[in-house]
Amino acid sequence: MCGIVGYVGDKNAQDFLISGLKRLEYRGYDSAGIVTLADKGDVTLLRAKGKIANLEEKLAKNKRKDSIGVGHTRWATHGEPSEANAHPHRAGDIYLVHNGIIENYKELKGTLKGHEFKSETDTEVLVALINSFYKDGKYSLVDAVVQALKLVKGTYGIAVVSSKKPDEIVVARSGSPLIIGVGNGETLIASDASALVGHTKRAIYLNDGEVALVKKDSIEVKTLNAEPVSAKVEEIETNLSAIQKGGFEHFMLKEIMEQPDSLAETLRGRIDAKNARVHLGGPGLSEAELRKIKHLVIVGCGTAYHAGLLAGYYIEQFTPEITIETVIASEYRYRSAYIPKDSVALIVSQSGETADTLACLREIKKQGIKTIGIVNAIGSTIAREVDGGTYVHVGPEISVASTKAFTSQVIAMVMFGLTIAQAKGVKPGILKPYIDEIDKMPKAIEETLDSLSKKIKEISKKYKDYEHSIYLGRDIAYPTSMEGALKLKEVSYIDANAYAFGELKHGPLALVDDRFFEMVLLPKGALYDKAVSNIQEVLARGGHVIVMTNADNFDLPVENIIKIPTDIEIFVPILMNIISQLFAYYMTVAKGLNVDQPRNLAKSVTVE
Ligand code: M6R
Repeated sequence: MCGIVGYVGDKNAQDFLISGLKRLEYRGYDSAGIVTLADKGDVTLLRAKGKIANLEEKLAKNKRKDSIGVGHTRWATHGEPSEANAHPHRAGDIYLVHNGIIENYKELKGTLKGHEFKSETDTEVLVALINSFYKDGKYSLVDAVVQALKLVKGTYGIAVVSSKKPDEIVVARSGSPLIIGVGNGETLIASDASALVGHTKRAIYLNDGEVALVKKDSIEVKTLNAEPVSAKVEEIETNLSAIQKGGFEHFMLKEIMEQPDSLAETLRGRIDAKNARVHLGGPGLSEAELRKIKHLVIVGCGTAYHAGLLAGYYIEQFTPEITIETVIASEYRYRSAYIPKDSVALIVSQSGETADTLACLREIKKQGIKTIGIVNAIGSTIAREVDGGTYVHVGPEISVASTKAFTSQVIAMVMFGLTIAQAKGVKPGILKPYIDEIDKMPKAIEETLDSLSKKIKEISKKYKDYEHSIYLGRDIAYPTSMEGALKLKEVSYIDANAYAFGELKHGPLALVDDRFFEMVLLPKGALYDKAVSNIQEVLARGGHVIVMTNADNFDLPVENIIKIPTDIEIFVPILMNIISQLFAYYMTVAKGLNVDQPRNLAKSVTVE
């Protein structure tokens, strides 16, 4: 979604703004812009529809040495992607970039008679509102911003400059991240730490309801009620190599291939295979609190939701007397669901900023239920608002399609389930097979990637021209097929839906014809024979079936068999999912599409 950068210091602001915006490209956007200010009040405002390359074309003819400015990548909400709707927006001497949504913008617009609106955006209403306080000189820039924000309903992360004050930037946040990078004689602004990496390691993460006056060598933070805040300077953990492609053609492939290491990071210090124990400090629940848990509510969107579904299937296998409900955040936040007091909620989010997931977290907390984050982005809003949490530590995930996060989210949640089971006194013999396999997973993922990548690439070439597909699985393979279908559709634009195999005869079987291929996830196990019968039903109707399985004896005449060479059994769906990720990746590359930034999508969905 939208991204913000800002710079005040002695260096060339345009250089930082453009390089920072490029770092934020992965979040998804459809226009971009920057404004820089010269000492004498000269302003250079450049905006362009489409990619940052279009903005750079304009920049080539408008090079400046200005050392203060702000920039933005916009993902359209109010008004189409266009130059007029791109940020920064201007009113009088003020220029504003904004992430989030001003919900009462229509009402506010009605009060701003003196401003001639040039865009369809809610953001222009906000800049005009700030200017209404600023223009007569009654308020300083920071106080004009505060006055305006007190009237605003909605979410925002903003950065504001005035041509009258070419040495200061005002930033504020409510519901949309804003980070202030503390440099030596320079201060940097970003909505995402990746833009700051390589420039500074020290940052202040603004909290909701805070505003800051930022200069090159000072940062003053206060609340909207004018209470001073002594802001904590934290370390940015990300390094440059984590946000670069590192020799891979695309981030998606890099992130798929990173999974042996990223999962090892998730497990570090948490798995004691020798003694068959899990040690998870982050949730911060005592043994007594863990023993009391009777219900788990798992909340997420998209891939995080699928991870929650799969983890739920596992946790109920080994944790007695516990009910698990995995819910879609955008639905759950508006339901009238009663959550029993002996519940714990797992809030699952790679970015830690997803608006619907965050809203659920807040609703659930209101009911007095303990919330545990399963989050990747350190210092993100969800990570900071949950009662306790387990970071998955997979490092930055840049490709819009979530890959390595899924694997680690599932395992992190299973480890939390194992922690509950340990506290409830479940026999070690029951838990040991899970712990043993978790311990072996990084290696098993590496072997799967090594042995199957080439084959998946070949198979994908045969299927790239299909427009429809069905993903099928039973039990633990069902949520896994949902995730496989999501991956394929979001990057390759091939219609892909997942069905529980048992549901086939209840409707979806009617779809099977030459326009579709069927991707079957077939783990060994109790339901293997039933799933094989289901495959026969599809074959009997002329299906174009691909089967991935860890079984040795599968011998039906399907079009392609992807045999997974592994002794992993419990967690084989994770390996199958990695194959689905590779399949989606290679299909998309074969179709010549932009795999890292699929159309219409954003990496972090910070609006509802
Ligand atoms: O950052 P989150 O984990 O909260 O994001 C949730 C979804 O937006 C995300 O998983 C999305 O579905 C991915 N693009 C799927 O690959």
